[in-house]
Order: sequence, then C-alpha cells, then structure tokens
Amino acid sequence: MARAKIALIGAGNIGGTLAHLAALKNLGDIVLFDVAEGIPQGKALDLSQCGPVEGFDSTITGSNDYHDIAGADVIIVTAGVARKPGMSRDDLLGINLKVMKAVGEGIKAHAPDAFVICITNPLDAMVWALREFSGLPHHMVVGMAGVLDSSRFSHFIADEFKVAVKDVNTFVLGGHGDTMVPVVQYSTVAGIPVPDLIAMGRSTKERIDAIVQRTRSGGGEIVALLKTGSAYYAPATSGIAMAEAYLDDAKRLLPCAAYVEGQYGVDGLYVGVPVIIGAGGVEEIVEVKLDDEAKANLQVSVDAVKELLVACKGIDETLK
Ligand code: APR
Repeated sequence: MARAKIALIGAGNIGGTLAHLAALKNLGDIVLFDVAEGIPQGKALDLSQCGPVEGFDSTITGSNDYHDIAGADVIIVTAGVARKPGMSRDDLLGINLKVMKAVGEGIKAHAPDAFVICITNPLDAMVWALREFSGLPHHMVVGMAGVLDSSRFSHFIADEFKVAVKDVNTFVLGGHGDTMVPVVQYSTVAGIPVPDLIAMGRSTKERIDAIVQRTRSGGGEIVALLKTGSAYYAPATSGIAMAEAYLDDAKRLLPCAAYVEGQYGVDGLYVGVPVIIGAGGVEEIVEVKLDDEAKANLQVSVDAVKELLVACKGIDETLK
C-alpha cells in the first residue's frame, strides 16, 4: 500500500508540532502548507533534519501552493490566528471564518477525498464553516476538541487522586468553550466512577467541581501564562490521535466535534459528542444516557454554539 499523505494547513505552533509528531510516528509523508512564505519551507527543512537522528524517512515538504495537498489522506487544519491573553475563543471568529473559506475552497479543489480534522478556533463554528465551504461529506470533517479537553481533565483527575494517568479515563461533551461539559458520571479511575471515589472519601464534590472548572478554562490558563499565543503540544498530540484512528481503522471511541443530526436532541450542528473513528471517518455517534445536570449543561453549550453559527451567517452570507 502507498504511504499515507498528511497535509497540515497552517504551519504555526500547532502545525509544526503536528508535523514533528507525525514524522516521529512514521504516519506518512507530510506537507506543511501556510500562507506565510518561508515558514512552512523552513520548518519542513528543520524537521527533515531530525530524520537521520530519529530514523524516520517521511518526506516533509513546505508549501504555499494548494496543489501540493493533492491526494492527501488526512488534512489537519490549524490555519488562522490564536488567542492572546484576555481573548476568548469566540473573539477569533471574524478573522478565522475568512481563513476557513480559503482553506475549505483549497481542500474542495485539491483533496476532496481526505479525512479533515479541524483545530482552528472557535472550534465548533469553524469546523461547521470549513465543512460548508469545502462541501465534503459531514462524516469526513471533524473537529478536535474533546480529546484535548478530556486529556486536560484526566491530567487533573490523576493529580487529585495521586494515580497513574494511564488508569484515568474521562469524558467531556459539548462545545469547546467555557460551556464545555466534563461528565463526572462517566469519568473513572481504573473503571471506578469518580462519584464512587468521592463516596469512598478519596476526594470531595467541591474539589471535583473545582477540577471541572479548571478543565473548562484549561486553554485560557495556558494563554495567560504564555502571553504570546495558545497551547500547542497537547492540541497537536490530540489531533494526531484522531488521525491515527482514521489511518489505522482503529474504531476508537473518542470525544470529537461531529455533525449531529438528532442525537442528544441536537440537530444540524457540530458539537462535541463521543464518536467512533475508523476508515470510514466518523462512523458512528454514540449516544449515552446523561443525568439531568449533564443534559442541562449540554443544552447551554449547544445554545452557545448556535449563537456562533448565527454570527458566522451574519458575516458571510454564502453560509445558509
Ligand atoms: N491559510 C493558511 N495558513 C494561514 C492562513 C491561511 N489563510 N491564515 C493564517 N495562517 C497561518 C499563519 O501564517 C500561522 O502560521 O496559520 C498559522 C497559525 O499558527 P499560530 O499563530 O502559531 O497558531 P497556533 O497556535 O498553531 O493555533 C492555530 O488552532 O487551537 C487553535 O486557537 C488556535 O485558532 C488557532 C489555531
């Protein structure tokens, strides 16, 4: 079988890290695309020079020309601007919507058979707009948010219970914003639900509530520390996990921003839900039973995403 081709649209902090991880994991040949001249070429050359040390032989190419993404199996989109301190993800909407239009049209023209993972914020609105502009089938366009949000949640839970992070499994639903819904009911340490661990006296509801809140503002905490941009190591790691699930036909059950049609009482928008990713792209949306609190919180999150879509339609009248 031919080597996989991975196109990364946006060669900034996340794009460069994605390229590094994809090369280290030998996922295939990599094209780094950006509008900034020299940046993708320079990063591609630097990354190629890791090959002799690391023993990977992926070709890594930098480009400013959409023709070079032709035939890509996976495309990961990070093009756009990132947050600075004091900005919410939603503040990026106007600029990044224009970027999604250019990227969507580039994908439509040159790589319409790819599985597309969007990371650009505000995520739930941008992945929706990217799908609209590209015209690809909904199951082939997905947003990366839940893998990152649940990874942040897991990190904090492992720290709270003083256990190995690999024994922690957490669950986050909803939009990738301050209204996201970390679901405590389905978050476990080696299969033991967090509410049971609280009942066993290993933590308190107040402490877990504080962790839920820290997870919700986890991206902002990093923006405030970095001052010049937003998180990139964990977002890139999360995007690569989704790409691998597709390339390996792994049938992984991951929380992703997927196009929901009826499940969870949501219709016709992208929002974070558990999905199965395999060679068919988003193969299934898994609908789990939620308690009343999680249901109410999910509704708040869905309403916030809907507001963003109204804003997008107000900016670009080609979006219906
Ligand atoms: N086409 C391609 N690339 C573009 C375009 C465009 N139309 N517009 C901007 N870019 C490029 C920039 O030149 C820059 O290299 O996107 C890159 C963005 O990189 P960074 O500013 O380093 O941002 P990064 O941290 O990678 O985050 C990218 O992902 O998580 C989200 O909120 C984050 O929206 C942001 C995106």
